[in-house]
Amino acid sequence: MKIFFLILVLFSGLFGQIDGKKVFEKYCWGCHHQTSLAFGPSFSEIASKRTESEIISYIFNPKLSYKSFSYRRSVMPSFSLTQEEYLSISQYILSFKPTKGNN
Ligand code: HEC
Repeated sequence: MKIFFLILVLFSGLFGQIDGKKVFEKYCWGCHHQTSLAFGPSFSEIASKRTESEIISYIFNPKLSYKSFSYRRSVMPSFSLTQEEYLSISQYILSFKPTKGNN
């Protein structure tokens, strides 16, 4: 039973990763990199300070949240993605969360 659960977790993690990566490559890659600063902040930086719902709402409408994220202005375009794409890209971003002792 434990093993079954482990496999399930592994698989869902794996699929989330693949889909999220595709969304990333399609829409975000020009401005964000996984672990280094590009035009926008890195995914590991975002993951270290935001929750899943914060990330999703930011992608949906940056103009609504940039002030509360302490940006003075926002140049990021908004994206209307499918529900699945929002979930997988936010999971993907959160997968770069720096673990303790590893940052
Ligand atoms: C045209 C460049 C550009 C593109 C494309 C872009 N971003 Fe951004 N993003 C930015 C910039 C610049 C910021 C910094 C704040 C701002 O300008 O809104 C940002 C901020 C963010 C933030 C909030 C950062 C924080 O402080 O937590 C998230 C989350 C984010 N982007 C996710 C994405 C995702 C996911 C995609 C792809 C679907 C994407 N961005 C595509 C430029 C971009």
